[in-house]
Amino acid sequence: MSSSGGDAIRPRVRIQDGSASRPVPAAQRNDNGGTRRAAVFDIRDMSVHYGENRALDWTTLRIDRNLVTAVIGPSGCGKSTFIRSLNRMNDSIPGFRIGGQVLYHGHDLYARQTNRVEVRRRIGMVFQKPNPFPKSIYDNVAWAPRNLGMKSGLDERVERALRHAAIWDEVKDRLRASALSLSGGQQQRLCIARSIAVEPDVLLLDEPASALDPVATAAIEDLMHNLKHRYTIVIVTHNMQQAARVADRTAFFSLDERDRTGTLVEYGDTDTIFTNPADPRTRDYVTGRFG
Ligand SMILES: Nc1ncnc2c1ncn2[C@@H]1O[C@H](COP(=O)(O)OP(=O)(O)O)[C@@H](O)[C@H]1O
Ligand SMILES: [Mg+2]
Repeated sequence: MSSSGGDAIRPRVRIQDGSASRPVPAAQRNDNGGTRRAAVFDIRDMSVHYGENRALDWTTLRIDRNLVTAVIGPSGCGKSTFIRSLNRMNDSIPGFRIGGQVLYHGHDLYARQTNRVEVRRRIGMVFQKPNPFPKSIYDNVAWAPRNLGMKSGLDERVERALRHAAIWDEVKDRLRASALSLSGGQQQRLCIARSIAVEPDVLLLDEPASALDPVATAAIEDLMHNLKHRYTIVIVTHNMQQAARVADRTAFFSLDERDRTGTLVEYGDTDTIFTNPADPRTRDYVTGRFG
């Protein structure tokens, strides 16, 4: 296996079957204002179609390790399409086609030999609407580890995930109760616990707080600050204050005026995007003049 540069964790990242896994060299260009963090995703000229409909155009950006990256933009600009393409969640949608490249720790996520079970284990996802299984709290968190054969130390694993998701104290005395008996905010933290129970590398969150009340939203935001030391987080949000509060970097997508295709307009440090954006479309959006 060839090695290409300073990504310290790449040697233990293997998402491809067989011996053909050959990391692609990291991008030479620098999309991140000179910082030298390890790239988790290196996305090059990504485009997405659903049948004849082009949802996303020419998206190039790097997502770096142990940062929170927010994805913002008006409804329909391809935020969900983008984030779901980072763990191959769109594969089962009829007509879905992706162009360009998504490199994950230097490995082509869409290569034929990529093992999709391994991809899902390493890159967890949480959706807008909390979707716990109709099972006990414990069984929700234990579900993925059991499926992947991680059966030893299961109790400790479940406890650790619930602690990291900041819900342990609220559920430790009722682990056998139904997950559906929890409040919406608790259910969402349980879903986060469920996705971190297999100790992924990346957590993708698609508007995780938009169905929650302000108190539950604040709990999720706090959680994100704590989780980013362990995980790389990508969060879609339509709430700009939320992006400003939780994200280190922000990507602003918009709809191209002519063909209504989702386009990455600007990507940078969150402070810059919100206070001194380079593109007038970004300025209009973050100041509330549009969208
Ligand atoms: N499953 C799907 N099948 C067909 N078109 C889709 C599907 N999901 C999204 N789209 C289309 O892709 C575009 C981007 O949608 P989406 O990624 O959901 O945007 P956002 O999350 O920013 O609101 C929209 O035009 C939407 O209609
Ligand atoms: Mg969406």
